[in-house]
Amino acid sequence: MQLKSLVALAVAVTAPVVAAVHLPIVAYVPFIKEGGLTTIPGAADGVYTSYNATHFAYYGKVAKAVNTDAPAVEERAAAEKRQNTCNVSCNGQYGTSNDILVAQRGLRYLLENNPSFRGSISFVYNNVWAFGCDYGNGQVESPSQWDFDVACVNWQCGSQQGGWNSHKSWKSTYGRQIGGLRC
Ligand SMILES: *[C@@H]1O[C@H](CO)[C@@H](O)[C@H](O)[C@H]1NC(C)=O
Ligand SMILES: *[C@@H]1O[C@H](CO)[C@@H](O)[C@H](O)[C@H]1NC(C)=O
Repeated sequence: MQLKSLVALAVAVTAPVVAAVHLPIVAYVPFIKEGGLTTIPGAADGVYTSYNATHFAYYGKVAKAVNTDAPAVEERAAAEKRQNTCNVSCNGQYGTSNDILVAQRGLRYLLENNPSFRGSISFVYNNVWAFGCDYGNGQVESPSQWDFDVACVNWQCGSQQGGWNSHKSWKSTYGRQIGGLRC
């Protein structure tokens, strides 16, 4: 193979890699994707973000006190700005209220100092995934916006069911699922 095509290949392969959260990465964890569902068998509790086509980045159980510089997220037109509206999908999966609460609290702690991400961000607790999915140019989710999304889901789905709130203009969903992630 010519050097030129090797270089092109290297660029193509490395381009999707993003460190979504500015925190030390504890491990790169391989995931399984079946249909739209992404799972990590025996996933350790804590924070995960999208990393590349085969692995998530795992950050451990991030402490609230850790502070970082948030990565830049592209500006959007005013019409695309996030609006606090409820547009909820309940997914028919059930977990315990306690596991859901702990997972959601874990993600909230993270968002206090790390509100920006690309791809996906999750806090896993006992196989419950509290998550944000980014279908656009990156996201900023403040803890108060997260609280709003969780309130929408609880109102529509109850406290034990999986579900998420969709923001079409903001190209994102936020909520919780059991056993994996559909972004
Ligand atoms: C994703 O990143 C992991 C950890 O660096 C690496 O082992 C794996 O080969 C990468 N996968 C791809 C498709 O680049
Ligand atoms: C609500 O979310 C769904 C995706 O889950 C989307 O197709 C639909 O257009 C959204 N509705 C509004 C009013 O944004």
